[in-house]
Amino acid sequence: MIYSRIAGTGSYLPPRVMTNDDFAKRLDTSDAWIRERTGIVQRHIADEAQCSSDLALEASRAALQASGTPAQDVDLIVVATSTPDYIFPSTACLLQAKLGVRGCAAFDVQAVCSGFVYALATADTFLKSGQYRKALVVGAEVFSRILDWDDRATCVLFGDGAGAVVLAADSKPGIHASVLHADGSQVGLLSVPGNVCKGQIVGSPFLQMNGQGVFKFAVKVLDEVGRETVSRAGMSMEEVDWLIPHQANVRILDATARKLGIAPEKLVSTVDHHGNTSAASVPLALDEFVRSGKIRPGHRVLMEGVGGGFTWGASLATM
Ligand code: UT7
Repeated sequence: MIYSRIAGTGSYLPPRVMTNDDFAKRLDTSDAWIRERTGIVQRHIADEAQCSSDLALEASRAALQASGTPAQDVDLIVVATSTPDYIFPSTACLLQAKLGVRGCAAFDVQAVCSGFVYALATADTFLKSGQYRKALVVGAEVFSRILDWDDRATCVLFGDGAGAVVLAADSKPGIHASVLHADGSQVGLLSVPGNVCKGQIVGSPFLQMNGQGVFKFAVKVLDEVGRETVSRAGMSMEEVDWLIPHQANVRILDATARKLGIAPEKLVSTVDHHGNTSAASVPLALDEFVRSGKIRPGHRVLMEGVGGGFTWGASLATM
């Protein structure tokens, strides 16, 4: 039996930090409101010259180095992003070129804030089938580009960044189970309902969200899919060492851990200093906890995503 395991992690945050007070200077909001309702204190914002592939490149280099994998050994690159550099080619192809390699398969996955879990499950399936031996799985976003900076209800929530893992084929798991779901009828909860036609923007180029609707949906499905994934792995919730839900709002994280019966000290929370980085949020949090020595080899990590689509999913891995 072939499994895939996470052989190395990496991440990158653009240097520019924006605090809640920076928003309060130009909008009718406050540090107190943002902290209390979301837990967010600061977020990183990319320079105009930095694209998702640039952030992905830095995170990928760190993950490749951590796993001792030369870029030319990668058979598959999957990038999860909703803020691609171009309409086409994929950000994965642009990343491949920036890594200085060619020939391996490369494509993007579009599942918004569930994107990393979708990408991980996709790469895991390729490795388990024996088709590929090494995959680079990346979540990279510049959500700052699709925010209406005058809309206080959305612009304070998001940040930019990238996280990556190298998945390697192994005789032991690794990834025990992944579960993915979607419900396209919930498109109205969270979307960027626009496109480009004949050189003009059609619809809206900005993120639109029903905040309370998203909140309720997220707490419900993160509980359900967490249970489904642990059960599919043939394990119990007590065997989970770390829970990494999509980093959207500290109240969503706390409610999810509580509903799953996972102790607060096992909950990975980085939303206070990253904000919501969509597909990058789970691998950014994972890398931070791996590098700080909290998540160690042998630990079991339940990663969960939820976001536009609506999409949701989870993956349970032994590090
Ligand atoms: O990846 C998934 C992405 N989305 C999410 O994770 C969002 C999930 N939802 C949430 O996190 C929360 O619903 C929010 C943080 C977006 C909003 O918190 P809430 O407790 O649900 O607040 P609310 O939408 O009920 O708004 C309460 C009040 C409103 O004012 P009124 O109508 O009571 O006068 C809003 O206009 O707060 C107001 N408000 C703000 N006030 C100060 C909304 N945004 C702000 C703001 N600063 N930034």
